[in-house]
This record gives sequence, structure tokens and C-alpha cells, in this order.
Amino acid sequence: MVEIAVMGYGVVGSGVVEVLTNHTESIAKRAKEEIRIKYILDLKDFPGSPFADRFTKSFDTILQDPDVKIVVEVMGGLNPSFDYVKRCLESGKSVVTSNKELVAAKGAELLKIAQKNNLNFLFEASVGGGIPIIRPISQCLAANDVIEIAGILNGTTNFILTKMIRDKMDFADALALAQKLGYAERNPAADVEGYDACRKICILASLAYGRHVYPEQVHTEGITDITLADVEYASAWGGVVKLIGQVKMMESGRLQMVVCPMFLSRESQLATVDDVFNGIMVRGDSTGDVVFYGKGAGKLPTASAVVADVIDCVKHFKARKYLYWDDGAPDYVEDYRLDTMAMFVRAKAAQEEEGYKTARKIFGEITRLNRKNPEQGEFAFVTGSMKGQELEEKLARLEAEGVTIGNAIRIGDL
Ligand code: HSE
Repeated sequence: MVEIAVMGYGVVGSGVVEVLTNHTESIAKRAKEEIRIKYILDLKDFPGSPFADRFTKSFDTILQDPDVKIVVEVMGGLNPSFDYVKRCLESGKSVVTSNKELVAAKGAELLKIAQKNNLNFLFEASVGGGIPIIRPISQCLAANDVIEIAGILNGTTNFILTKMIRDKMDFADALALAQKLGYAERNPAADVEGYDACRKICILASLAYGRHVYPEQVHTEGITDITLADVEYASAWGGVVKLIGQVKMMESGRLQMVVCPMFLSRESQLATVDDVFNGIMVRGDSTGDVVFYGKGAGKLPTASAVVADVIDCVKHFKARKYLYWDDGAPDYVEDYRLDTMAMFVRAKAAQEEEGYKTARKIFGEITRLNRKNPEQGEFAFVTGSMKGQELEEKLARLEAEGVTIGNAIRIGDL
């Protein structure tokens, strides 16, 4: 029998306990050992819980119990998670976590401690919830050079954008609905500002390319500026707006990475990923494009990935699962403006025809887009491909000529 502790009894933690309890026999068969939850760490009280005898408020009780071989960290956040996880690994306990903030910020450091102590530090649930993606990248696709990874990595923002696209809800109403349905937090910044997607693409990039990428290194935009006008123009162009996390290996050996809204053609597989679902495309040099799709959040999907890691851990106590990447470097991620891209631009001028002519003069060949009932003076167009720096300069010139830029959104080539 293997005894484990679960730190955090929130949505994911209670899901982990539920999955382990409801599937005890089949899990024991797969792990070749019975897995027993000895402790559940939480500061709150859960009177009447069937697991009342397992609750503790003391981390030290878990740390000092030599029978606890695996600790599941599902508290989220960095504090005290980082300290707890580090001390568990230093004390000879393997750790399984769903905490993307922790892995994105401290992955290299924790993997090093795990390696030194011949322990497992596993985090399948940290990206894509119930979608298998960490193992596929580290194992199944290991023979490939990964050319690019791009994905819809945040279910909340994908739900909001889907409501804007399908039901013509504006951003504020769609966010309010997401909050009502429990998809978005009361403080939705981590989702709508793109930070959550950023953490996830950092984890995937670190894993695929073997070197830690820190969230601060990645240019990150959220979806708060996306309007129904943008959604209508995307449709007129032949696609949809999606929040994409993307990493590409450049010839220089450095990475191009962004998290930002993009126009995706309806032909793109990621364009059809709707509601709270996630979709992740991995472009390998041998496999071509491989796309992973499923529920990226939620109690049981996330718990399923956590428990699978626990099972894997039990099966690999002696032969540690080899997940590893090196420390990062300050210049490892290129300036995002060095990448080449086309851009959708929504703008306003005193006279839209004059504004459009000015845009043509500055940008050269552009494609005009139209929508029903534009605002007074509004016009929109898609530029040709050019470096981000050049696009920024041209947009500044357009503004200097009296044109107001409403929004500028990348055209994704996915
Ligand atoms: N808020 C996250 C999402 C939860 O919407 O995807 C899962 O990481």
C-alpha cells in the first residue's frame, strides 16, 4: 500500500479525493499497489465529511510522516505552495501538482531537487486540465524536433469569446455569464489578461525545448479589448478571434513566444475549439501537426490528470519518470516584434475614405474589411506580412495623421 497526502481541498483537491475513492480497485490494479489518502491538508473545516479523520491543518504532520511517499499539491498559487513542495521533495517525497503558476515560475528549480533526490515531480494537470499533453510532449513526441506549439490554453476566455462570436454578447456580458456559471473567478484578471495562458505556454515551451521560460519573458495580451466589431470583422475576413499561446523555435536557437488574441481562419483546427474547451497543436518535424482537444479545466477532468500522475509515480518509485529542463536565460526569448506577421487593424478617422487612403499610403497593399452598421468614420483592413516592429512604426504614423486605432490583432498562421 502507498500512502499519500492531498494538500488543498478545493475544486481540484476534492475531485482528486473523489476519483481516488470511486476508483480504488481499478486504480490499485493499474498502479499494482493500493493507494490510500492518509492526510488532506486544508485550513477550512469540513464538518460531516466522510474524510473527517484525514483532515489536518498542519503541513508539518505530513512532512514528518515517513509513510507518506507522495504529496499532491492542489492548493494553487506560489505561497505557500512553493515552500511546501520544495520541502516535500527535499524530504524524500515525490510531488504531483496541478499548479501551473508554481511550475511556470519554479519548474526548473523543483525538477532539479527531484532529480537530485531521485524523486518524481509530475504536473500533467498543470496544462490542459484533463487533456494529456505533458506526457505526449515528453514521451510520445520525443523523437521530433518541435517546430512550434500553439494553443487555446484557457477555457474561461475561450468561453467568453465563443459567446461573443455565437451569441453576439459583448465582452462584459459574456464575462458576467462566465462568472455566473463558475467558469470565471470574481477577480478574472488571470484569465482575461492572458496570464493563465502565459503560464501554460511557458510550461510547454520549457518542456519541449529543455530550458525554462519564465512568464515575464513572454509578451502577453488578454482579451479585454476585443469588441463585437472585431468579432464581426474576423467573420468578414473568414475566421474567428481566439486567444492563442504560441512558441516557435527560431533559427537563432532562441524562442519567439506570445500570448495574444489572433484571427484564425475557419480552416484552422483551433478555430473550431469552442466554449470552455482547450486545443493544443504541436508541430513536429516528423509528425507534422498533432492536435490535442478536451476539457482544460474543471473538477474531474483536472483530477483525472492528477490521479494518473499519482499512479505513474507509484509505478516509478525506483525508476524516476524523466521530466527535466534546465534553468532559463535572459535572452532566450526574442523580442516579439522581430517576428513577421500580418495584422488586422480597426481604425477611425474624421472621414473613413480619407483614413483608408492614408492607411494604404503607409502600409502599401492592404485588404479592406466591411461590417454592417460601422460607427461613424470607422474602417478596417488587414495588412501584408511584415516585422512587428515595422507594423508598430506604421501604426504610429497612421495615428500621427489623425487616425485613431481601435484595435490591432494578429493574423494567426495556424
Ligand atoms: N481558469 C483556467 C481556465 C482554469 O479557464 O482554463 C484551468 O487552468
